[in-house]
Amino acid sequence: MKRRKVCALICSAAAAMALAACGNSQETQQTDTQPEDTQQETQTESQSDAGQTSETGTGGSNILIAYFSVPETDGTDAEAGASRVVVDGQVMGNNEYIAQLIQQQTGGDLFAIETEEEYPGSHDDLLEYAYEEKSEDARPALAGQIDNLDNYDTIFLGYPNWNADLPMPLYTFLEEYDLSGKTIIPFTTHGGSGFSRTIDTIAELEPDAQVEEDGLAISRNAVPDAEGEVTDWVGGLGI
Ligand SMILES: Cc1cc2nc3c(=O)[nH]c(=O)nc-3n(C[C@H](O)[C@H](O)[C@H](O)COP(=O)(O)O)c2cc1C
Repeated sequence: MKRRKVCALICSAAAAMALAACGNSQETQQTDTQPEDTQQETQTESQSDAGQTSETGTGGSNILIAYFSVPETDGTDAEAGASRVVVDGQVMGNNEYIAQLIQQQTGGDLFAIETEEEYPGSHDDLLEYAYEEKSEDARPALAGQIDNLDNYDTIFLGYPNWNADLPMPLYTFLEEYDLSGKTIIPFTTHGGSGFSRTIDTIAELEPDAQVEEDGLAISRNAVPDAEGEVTDWVGGLGI
């Protein structure tokens, strides 16, 4: 009798330990996916962001706004059509600004497509750098990643027209992420060429995604005043 009681005690203690270990391992899996400093951000950050801050980045939305944008640091000012916009003292690239407008309207999560190697800020250096990347058919390594891609079924994808093509980091992005079954809605800013044939290229790289052909192309000269146009376009998408 006594022996049976001892056995029961040992068994329940073992079960309790197993349960505790299970709980711990789950916690580790969730937090180990992020470096320590971003875990801190994750707990305090309120803005939607699908990047390294994946746990809180979801914001419950099924819409992701992924964009690539390189604000130039020299040349003409924003009003005269430079590749940057200044809003409340904050300097943004043109596509970054449009992405923020879409985010405000849709409540989606923002993800900046960034490269490990930073692009030159000055216009001439940037032109040369990008031209070389294109002629080498380069796939620049990306920094950061979308950890919660399954949460999204609609992806706004924004980028500048570079050399009548997608910037090469967009090739990396579209080859790295399988967007099958998702709806991709492109938007671009440009110096006169519109999308060129970039929407077709996106469809070729993501053959099992539904790529919206009626994307939004905004001339860089019109970017600072584009809020109304963006609002109308997003409103007309029926999402
Ligand atoms: C390297 C480079 C190449 C470009 N090539 C083109 C082009 O072929 N056609 C065009 O219309 N605009 C071109 N532009 C202009 C950009 O598309 C335009 O400035 C865009 O708004 C920049 O967006 P961002 O500030 O988000 O990077 C080019 C700009 C750069 C820096």
